[in-house]
Amino acid sequence: MDTLKILKDMTQINSASGNETAIREYIKTEAEKYCDEVYVDAMGNLTAHKKGGGKKIMFAAHMDEIGIIVTDTDDKGFIRFSAVGGLNIPNLVNLRVRFSNGIEGVIGAEEDKFKGKPALSNLYIDIGAADKKAAQKQISVGDTAVFVGGFVKRGDNIISKALDNRAGCAVILKALSEIKESPNDLYFVFTVQEEVGFRGARTAAFDIEPEIAVAVDVTDTGDTPSAPTMAVEMGKGAAVKVMDRSIMCDSLVRSVMIETAKREGIPYQLEIMTDGGTDAGAIHLTRAGVKTGGISIPTRYIHSPSEMANINDIENCVALVRGLASQQW
Ligand code: CO
Ligand code: ZN
Repeated sequence: MDTLKILKDMTQINSASGNETAIREYIKTEAEKYCDEVYVDAMGNLTAHKKGGGKKIMFAAHMDEIGIIVTDTDDKGFIRFSAVGGLNIPNLVNLRVRFSNGIEGVIGAEEDKFKGKPALSNLYIDIGAADKKAAQKQISVGDTAVFVGGFVKRGDNIISKALDNRAGCAVILKALSEIKESPNDLYFVFTVQEEVGFRGARTAAFDIEPEIAVAVDVTDTGDTPSAPTMAVEMGKGAAVKVMDRSIMCDSLVRSVMIETAKREGIPYQLEIMTDGGTDAGAIHLTRAGVKTGGISIPTRYIHSPSEMANINDIENCVALVRGLASQQW
């Protein structure tokens, strides 16, 4: 499986939370080649099951991305919207977004209505429509849009929208494609609606009832000018999550990750992310609790149209997932 190709394909698919059909179809077509069964549950989570004995292990990566959802259109044809996931509101001004039907628009701000930073209520989307009627012919309340952000490679680094979390999807999809023999019962779950509160992961974990779970997602880095203090650096290996706002990772899972990385010569670093959480947060609180850890891809400029990650880090995350899945626990 060509990592760059699947990353490019998947980051450029538009699937905001609650609207995951397009990305799910892409992943389903690939996953079906490598496992015993692939199914979609009521929430829309896609599960690829590789049957086996041993431990029941769940790997989760969310396939949704942040975006906006249309709430109203004014008389002049400007579209009002709400956030889907954690948008940085002041940074949205003048960015371009694309709706599921392909229509693009520019986010504008009512400059005279605020001092300093704009609120969401000060922003609108201009799709170039002449008036309300023209706008409503193209866009309806409830339509979602995502950032426009093309895929480019700069040396070993890649830049694109939606590396959060198509990079994580690529990690577990590629690991799935490479695992030949495993003593374990493996579930690779591509979850929905993570960006609006880990919603898909919660029901998927309840259904699967895993003994061990690992969420794969992006994490911030502390390696840019004036970045907040954080030990994670882009290009320094797979990040083994210790903690984020949603979870204290299970110590057994964490130590097995570290042993596996050491044994197989996989570069790794320890991660504490003080802002935000991941699917791991929902999974570990399912039923009577699940031993859960996280593997993270160090990523700069998360939740922007230009997220940046390192291809070697992504490959090292693939190796770590493969190593965890293939061993006796
Ligand atoms: Co995110
Ligand atoms: Zn994410």
